[in-house]
Amino acid sequence: MVTSDMKFVVIFGFLTAVYLVDSKFQAPTVQVYSHLPAKFGEPNMLICHVSQFHPPDITIQLFKNGEELTKANETDLSFGKNWHFYLTKHAEFMPMRDDKYFCRVTHASSPPRNIDWEANM
Ligand SMILES: *[C@@H]1O[C@H](CO)[C@@H](O)[C@H](O)[C@H]1NC(C)=O
Repeated sequence: MVTSDMKFVVIFGFLTAVYLVDSKFQAPTVQVYSHLPAKFGEPNMLICHVSQFHPPDITIQLFKNGEELTKANETDLSFGKNWHFYLTKHAEFMPMRDDKYFCRVTHASSPPRNIDWEANM
């Protein structure tokens, strides 16, 4: 037999669990890479992959020499295991020797972070 007291305990426990999951701030893991192996003067795609963060509100920006790349597209927010979210932002670019690229991630878990693209050339 299920009493109304028992129902209350079950519902209260469920809401507490939802609250605990939701209140957990998790700082994003950020990876910045190019779609193709980078070669100076060859068109490529710069990709910033952001994962393992919570809550879902996040801002991702790509920069070239300190200027934001405005022709960048973002994937839809997806979530994987443990209710952690991931998404990517990407823009066409042409790597050149003296250009510096980075991805800026702004999320409630920490101050904005700039993650450099390492050309590995
Ligand atoms: C971004 O999306 C627009 C519209 O779908 C497309 O024309 C453009 O090529 C995309 N840019 C990149 C870098 O994927």
